[in-house]
Amino acid sequence: MKIDYLIKNGTIIDGSGDARYEADLLVNGDRIISIFKKDQKSVKIHDKNYNLNDLSFKNVIDATSHIIAPGFIDVHTHDDQNIFIDRSMSCKISQGVTTCIAGNCGISLAPFDFSGDVPAPIPLLGDKDAYRFSSVSSYKNAFNESPSSINISLLTGHSMLRVQVMNGEINRSATKDEIIKMQNILENALIDGSIGLSTGLAYPAANHAPTEEIIELAKVLKKHDGIFTTHMRNEGDNLVESVNETIKIGELADVRTVISHHKCAGRSNWGKSKETLKLIKEAKKKQHLDLDCYPYTASSTMLLKHFVERADKVLVTWSDKVQDLKVNDINKIAKEFNCTIDELVDKLYPAGAIYFQMDDEDLNRIISFDGTMIGSDGLPGDKHPHPRLWGTFPRVLGKYSREMKLFSLEEAIYKMTFKSAKTFGLEKRGLIKKDFFADLVIFDPEVVIDKATYEKPLMPALGIDTVINNGQIVWQSMKSLNIYSGKFLEGKSFN
Ligand code: ZN
Ligand code: CU
Repeated sequence: MKIDYLIKNGTIIDGSGDARYEADLLVNGDRIISIFKKDQKSVKIHDKNYNLNDLSFKNVIDATSHIIAPGFIDVHTHDDQNIFIDRSMSCKISQGVTTCIAGNCGISLAPFDFSGDVPAPIPLLGDKDAYRFSSVSSYKNAFNESPSSINISLLTGHSMLRVQVMNGEINRSATKDEIIKMQNILENALIDGSIGLSTGLAYPAANHAPTEEIIELAKVLKKHDGIFTTHMRNEGDNLVESVNETIKIGELADVRTVISHHKCAGRSNWGKSKETLKLIKEAKKKQHLDLDCYPYTASSTMLLKHFVERADKVLVTWSDKVQDLKVNDINKIAKEFNCTIDELVDKLYPAGAIYFQMDDEDLNRIISFDGTMIGSDGLPGDKHPHPRLWGTFPRVLGKYSREMKLFSLEEAIYKMTFKSAKTFGLEKRGLIKKDFFADLVIFDPEVVIDKATYEKPLMPALGIDTVINNGQIVWQSMKSLNIYSGKFLEGKSFN
C-alpha cells in the first residue's frame, strides 16, 4: 500500500485543547487516515491492521522538535475578493491559516446586484468590477473553477442586502416590504451555501437599521442553522449597550451569535471589557454566544470622522482621491493640505486608516477569555495594511502564549481551530483526528512569531514550516507552492 504522506517524529496538538502527544501521522488524499504512537508496530487504516514495514510513502516529512496542529481558521476576514486576486493567499497560508471565513462586518461580495454608488464600508471589498456576483452560487462556482490555496466560507452581509433592496437609500430603516425582500435574498444565499448573516451596524451603510430589522433577518437563519456575526453598532461609548443589543438579537431570533473583533475603543472606554465579558458569560448560560478578536491595540477600516474622533493616533493608509498619498499621521497630512481634519477626511474619501485606540489590558482580558476565537480582520486590498493581515496567528502563538504566557499553546490552538470549526459549523475541520480533512500546520514552537509591523506590514511570520490544505502542501520553507487545493465550505452544525 502506497500512502501520500508520512509526517513523523512530531508532537501533535490536536486542536481540542487536550495536552500534546508524540505521534506520527498518515495522510492520504485529502484526509488524515491514521495517527499512531511511537511504539506501535502496526497501524490501523480503514479498519485493517498493517505492519509499518509493509507501507510505503510518496513523501516523508520529518517534524522533529515541531508541533503538528490543525490548519488555523481565520474566523474574521475580508478575503472575499482576495481569493481571486492572490490565489496563493500567502498573507494567510504563511501564518498556518487553511480556512478563512469571509463576508464579515455586513459586507460580502455575494449576493449583490446593484450598480449605483456604494456607501462605506463596502468599498473595502474592492472597486466596482469586484461586485459581480448576484448570487452565492455564482460566487461559489467562480471559486470552484479557480480555487485558492485556502478554504473559504462566506457570510451574507446585511449591508449588501440593504443597499440593493433599498436602492441605495440607506439613511432610514427598511420598510416591511423591504425586510421581506431581504429575507428572501438571505434565504436563497443560505440555500446556495452561505453560512450565515453578518452585520456592520457601526457603518453608514447600516447604522440606520433598528434592532428589529436585524431580528427579522436573523430569524431566517434559524431554519437553515446559519450563524449571526456582528460588528456591533458601537465599540466605544455605547459598547455595553451594543453588547446588550447583540444578546437580545441572538435571544429573540434564537440564533448562534458571534461578536466580531471585540474591543473597547477610545481611552474613555478602556476597562469596559470587565463588564462586557461578564454580560457575555451570563448570556452564554441561556444562548449560543461567542466572540473573536485580533491581537493588536490598533484597529483599521475606512477613514471615517466618528472613528477619527475617539482615537489617540490615526495613520491614513490609502485614498482613492489622492492616489500617491504616503502613509502618515492624519495631523501631518492635514498640515500638508492646510485644512482641518474634517475637511481632510472629505477630501480623501474613500480612504483607509489605522486607529490607535485600544488598551493592552482589555485586549489581554478579551483574548484570554474562555473560548474567544482568533480572527485577523485583515484588509487585503489595502496597499499598506494593518500588520494583523500577515501577523495575527503567529503573534498569538509567539507573543500571547509563549512570551506572555496568557494561555497554553494547547489553548491558543483551540482558539484558532476546533473552537472555530465547531462554532461556524465547519464539518471535519479543526481537529487532528482520523478521517478529518488534512488541513495541517507544522511549526517550531520556540521560533514562531509575527514579523509584520505598522511600518512594514507585509512581512511573513517566522517559524511556520509546512502548511497542508486538503492533503496538499501549499506553503513550505517560507514560500507558497502555488497549489490551489482550497474548497468552498458550506456550514453545517455538528455540535
Ligand atoms: Zn468590523
Ligand atoms: Cu471586519
